[in-house]
Amino acid sequence: MHRGLVVGACVATLSLALTSGVQSAGAAKAWMNPKLSPDARADLVLKELTFDEQIGLLHGHFPTLMGPKKPAHIQQSAGWVPGVPRLGIPDLTESDASLGVASAGRKDDDATPLPSGVALAATWDARTAFESGAMIGKQARQKGFNVLLNGGVNLLRDPRNGRNFEYLGEDPLLAGTLSAATIRGIQSNHIVSTSKHFAINDQETGRMVLDAVIDEAAFRESDLLAFEIAIEAGQPGSVMCAYNRVGGTYACENPFLLTKVLRDDWKWPGWTMSDWGAVHGVNAATAGLDQESGQQLDKQVFFDAPLKAAVKSGEVSKARVREMTHRYLRSLFAVGVFDHPVKAGGLDTKADGLVAQRAEEQAIVLLKNEHSLLPMLAGAKQIAVIGGHADVGVVSGGGSSQVAPLGSVSFAKPKGAPSWGGGQVYHPSAPLAAIQARTGGGRVAFNDGTDHAAAAALAHNADVVVVFVTQWSTEGMDISMSLPDGQDGLVSAVTAANPNTIVVLETAGPVLMPWRDKAGAIVEAWYPGARGGEAIARVLFGEVDPQGRLPATFPASEAQLARPMLPGADQAVVEGFGAATPAPFEVHYPEGSDIGYRSYAKSGQTPLYPFGYGLSYTGFKYAGLKVAGGKTLTATFTVSNTGKRAGTDTPQVYLTSGPKRHQQRLIGWSKVTLKPGESRTVTVAAPRRMLASWADHGWKVDGGAYQVAVGPNAATASLKGSTKVAAGTLKP
Ligand code: BGC
Repeated sequence: MHRGLVVGACVATLSLALTSGVQSAGAAKAWMNPKLSPDARADLVLKELTFDEQIGLLHGHFPTLMGPKKPAHIQQSAGWVPGVPRLGIPDLTESDASLGVASAGRKDDDATPLPSGVALAATWDARTAFESGAMIGKQARQKGFNVLLNGGVNLLRDPRNGRNFEYLGEDPLLAGTLSAATIRGIQSNHIVSTSKHFAINDQETGRMVLDAVIDEAAFRESDLLAFEIAIEAGQPGSVMCAYNRVGGTYACENPFLLTKVLRDDWKWPGWTMSDWGAVHGVNAATAGLDQESGQQLDKQVFFDAPLKAAVKSGEVSKARVREMTHRYLRSLFAVGVFDHPVKAGGLDTKADGLVAQRAEEQAIVLLKNEHSLLPMLAGAKQIAVIGGHADVGVVSGGGSSQVAPLGSVSFAKPKGAPSWGGGQVYHPSAPLAAIQARTGGGRVAFNDGTDHAAAAALAHNADVVVVFVTQWSTEGMDISMSLPDGQDGLVSAVTAANPNTIVVLETAGPVLMPWRDKAGAIVEAWYPGARGGEAIARVLFGEVDPQGRLPATFPASEAQLARPMLPGADQAVVEGFGAATPAPFEVHYPEGSDIGYRSYAKSGQTPLYPFGYGLSYTGFKYAGLKVAGGKTLTATFTVSNTGKRAGTDTPQVYLTSGPKRHQQRLIGWSKVTLKPGESRTVTVAAPRRMLASWADHGWKVDGGAYQVAVGPNAATASLKGSTKVAAGTLKP
């Protein structure tokens, strides 16, 4: 029998027992009155909790490492915090979920993987983010979890960060907006979503030891801003602090991050949880950490006996322990975990796979299309499909977020990958099969690309070639911007043999393309997720218009990066648990808040592809810009489809300079689908914070003239305008 179902059945029994327990004793449990506020309900429970019970809620297990101590009904997963049955406080059952309910090593899992986070960002579509979040939130519930450790919103400061695939690109407004929508989607199922990794966990090399040193204004206007937008609009139940240090202090014991920013400035009422193995002492509690997660990974279970001892000695106050417990319970009430106990069962992977496919169809970015090679003709006589394990499936990212549904195929991981992760997992949606299904009488031949000469020979005899290249990436290791395993050589050999070559990239993020000029067409498909092969084929054959836009700049070389050498890369590191970590080192951010496109605007350098870039099978024109000022800035303009096909465009509005500062900033965008010849007038209003600078401990909008550009990407200003905006301040 399917092991997942056995586990699911156990959880179902448990939650039924829990539900009926709560209901029968409901009258006595005043906190079960949903009309009361989450704070009032949390206070009522707190009155009943003993000190030891409070402490029990403040530290959680890593079930995967519990061995025989793991109760049978608890799944192999990221986290478990036992509840207090006598009061109906539910167990917290946590699953990783950057891209779906993670498999945590379960070999026969049935969760549905979404395309990667950076792919989701490439949709520039909050509705898709909400629907994706709602789908995985529903699956969490159906798989017996009430917390998803989703919500990675660390900005892409370096294309070599091994976890970029889990995050949402380089811009704080885009990343924050899509993260908020995902959180809302997840929490619409009464499943807690986290925001992580707070903060500036922007590379994997040395993540346990590095010290991120950044000026406060730059920090507030970049990495923190992405979190601020996500947390303000998404109201996640929880925030997870990062492994690294920030300004000399570990993020999980950092009063500036955990108390000043989150609680005092942003007034966020939820609970902070540590990353797994990120707690170094009970001082974390006074700094603002509310819950120690994955306690098996810390040197001690600091928030158990040591915390009790610290309360006894007066180092930590009893009031602080109550506050920690209050924040935890408050979120469980606010999100609905008490009122809507999870009930395993009822997964509909067919319908959920379509949600993932729709997201991927919107995420695919067409980078180049010479001589309209795309969309491919279904009737093409000879099609050669080469490389990328396209006969097997689509690549996915490794580490804690790994979703490996049934049918996935795992290839050996490269040298240097963390020992604790799995192999290179390919999700079972083969692009080759999806292409074959569409070619009617056309002949499709496949070559795996390992023998470049054989691949070139096949390409030479074909009318059209589709070459797939993949870049696997994982938590715990950074990557190179060059494709691995000699794939650049493969593409060069194939494009030399046949210029009618379409290159499909399945990468973690930006990569170099030394063969770019030789390729006929280039398509970025990211990590495509469930039914990803189908989504790729639909775009290749023009069943959907390619409508993704780059959420990160693709640099032309490593020399263009803010830190051409990855900090810590000169030290021996395999990051991970129990593995060697390098000596502590500092990472500096001379680019400040000028991440990605903003730094190219300043330096005048030309990247390979700019932020916001992406082609369609039709063409668009913008006209008639009117910019209105006052309290904020509003741009109104008309978008027209100038081509012969229906298509979807994402016109973007950038601030190019203000009265005192010249910094390019994305301040808004619109996504429009137009029939051939159709025009639509759109209005984009800038959130005031996007016009502000961080100064004198708050957000300040300088009064005066603001210049804006409207364009199809960060490097192309199709329309320009300006207006006057009134001076003002905003709450932090
Ligand atoms: C990762 C987190 C994850 C946690 C639990 C850590 O290694 O950094 O993103 O949620 O493990 O699996």
